[in-house]
Amino acid sequence: MSNTQQDFTERLLIDAGICGGMRVLDVGCGTGDVTYLLARLVGNTGVVVGADHDVRTLSIARQRIAPQHYDNPTFIESDLLSLPESLGEFDAVVGRRVLMYQADTVAAVRAIAKHVKLDGIVVFQEHDTTLVPASLDGFPLHKRAQGWLQHMIEREGADLHIGFNLHRIFTQAGLAVEEVRGECLIQTPNCAYGLGHIVRACLPRILAHGVATADEVAIETLQERLDNERSQSQAIYIGDMLFGAWARKLQ
Ligand SMILES: C[S@@+](CC[C@H](N)C(=O)[O-])C[C@H]1O[C@@H](n2cnc3c(N)ncnc32)[C@H](O)[C@@H]1O
Repeated sequence: MSNTQQDFTERLLIDAGICGGMRVLDVGCGTGDVTYLLARLVGNTGVVVGADHDVRTLSIARQRIAPQHYDNPTFIESDLLSLPESLGEFDAVVGRRVLMYQADTVAAVRAIAKHVKLDGIVVFQEHDTTLVPASLDGFPLHKRAQGWLQHMIEREGADLHIGFNLHRIFTQAGLAVEEVRGECLIQTPNCAYGLGHIVRACLPRILAHGVATADEVAIETLQERLDNERSQSQAIYIGDMLFGAWARKLQ
């Protein structure tokens, strides 16, 4: 099994109990990576709705091809704090890298939980930079590139330490935590890891926030230089740590 964010998400959702026939809401769905994964997991008898307040990403999500069922998923434009009552109740509400952007995370989880039926679950995947980047060797370029991404999302208001807070947030929102897990994305000298591609996708935001200049990033050669740095080392590098948690609505 490859060690990617999408693998982690799939295992998290399955272990949390997402299965065929469920009605699931994906809050902050973005371009729909998790929403379409959910559509596959719930199958033809389930229902998946993706919600996001960004019309631009929703239009990209809507253009993707549903894996197996014409009716799934559907998408709505909505802030997660004011989801329409007409959505009804869900067996599960899921979100990935969304809570980290909320000013009041407990209020956000409480708002979401209103749309979960009794005994249903809330599942979130977030990240945390408290322990990373980590390596025994220097990896200066990896650390610089990772730093650009971290400073960018920090300037966009994200909480970089939310993973360690997930248990507290769920509990304060009145949910019963069932599991919190964390996993590192390990980069070995010969593994393919597209940190440079991620920086390229984020470059306009990196530049807009004044985190680095185009000359400093030198995007055309970045991925190649990162690959060289990793292949010249016998060591491993950990740039990202993923946290997942799920909790049940018991009252
Ligand atoms: C980092 S992206 C993650 C997208 C998707 N969950 C994924 O993992 O691929 C965060 C998404 O959350 C959305 N978002 C953040 N705060 C939101 C809110 N209060 N209500 C609705 N969507 C929100 C953003 O518009 C963005 O699409």
